[in-house]
Amino acid sequence: MLVTQQKVLRRFWYATLPLSMLDDGPKPFTLLGESIVLWKGGDGKPHALRDRCCHRTAKLSKGFVDEDGNIACGYHGWTYDCSGACVKIPQNPAGVIPKNAIVQAYRCEARYGYAWVALEDPLQPIPEFVEEFTPGYRRILQFHETWNTTPLRMMENSFDNSHFSFVHKANFGLFSNPTPSKYEFRPEEWGFEAETHVPVRNPPASHRITGTTEEITERHLINRWYMPFARRFGCSYPASGIDHIIYNCATPIDDRTMVLAQWLYRNDSEASCSTQELIDWDRPITDEDRDILEATDYDACIDVQRQQECHMESDKPGLLMRRMLLKLLADHGEREVFREPDEVRG
Ligand code: FES
Ligand code: CO
Repeated sequence: MLVTQQKVLRRFWYATLPLSMLDDGPKPFTLLGESIVLWKGGDGKPHALRDRCCHRTAKLSKGFVDEDGNIACGYHGWTYDCSGACVKIPQNPAGVIPKNAIVQAYRCEARYGYAWVALEDPLQPIPEFVEEFTPGYRRILQFHETWNTTPLRMMENSFDNSHFSFVHKANFGLFSNPTPSKYEFRPEEWGFEAETHVPVRNPPASHRITGTTEEITERHLINRWYMPFARRFGCSYPASGIDHIIYNCATPIDDRTMVLAQWLYRNDSEASCSTQELIDWDRPITDEDRDILEATDYDACIDVQRQQECHMESDKPGLLMRRMLLKLLADHGEREVFREPDEVRG
């Protein structure tokens, strides 16, 4: 599925940039092939416009935020409010502004430390991540980076218990036990929930992460897929009662690349496991996933009838995603646009 070709994907919210990245002025972002500019207004809220001045097309992300919290073009200073209306043309002392001096605005909301953007009328609200509102949890922003793969690959990998023993054998994966744990599925309107118990290695480096010192410990996973490209990795360690709950948004930049946004909720204290330790633990794991996903074909055909790939039992979550995405397209009068296998590598 080539994401930029499927119009319905424009009708979802995506995490774009951490709000802290907007503290020193406007920033560019590409969402589903669309160039946008984000900035923090006078009220501290993020806003998003098309990244193209209507005067001579300069990128507004090259501009600056003025004293009223509006965004000014860096070329000749035309200034826009959060609705995209031009409110000032410095060269025009009479203050007359042409009617067509307007830039496309997009819905933009602050949530979970990120600026979320929907390009068109959203089908679902921004997902509710309950730990954000539950006392006793702290939120840690872990990673924000560009990956040369596509969101569906990342989402499928998140629910694929078969890769732990291979991709993550250097830390928590049990190479000697490659039989994957099975999930129990609960379909939801917004995606699905999948629950399982997974034995994992617990090397000394992870003792403070898991809260136990046993050589092998158990993860109780209650994972969720939020259509189209967000997921909860709801990991609890029953032996210690520690929750290590990761949320990821795989935000589509274009048909080949995505932004990996990852943050974590923990129900312990900074003293028992520091922010830096938690980032350092998840860093190589995330890199291992990235490395293997960047070595796959970037496009995955969601219509499995086309038989572009072989499957096994543990691919069930991914196949369910593909079926639900295919239905989403059909419900909105779209067909899957994909690349033929021999064109996929480029
Ligand atoms: Fe933006 Fe001229 S191009 S003000
Ligand atoms: Co992985």
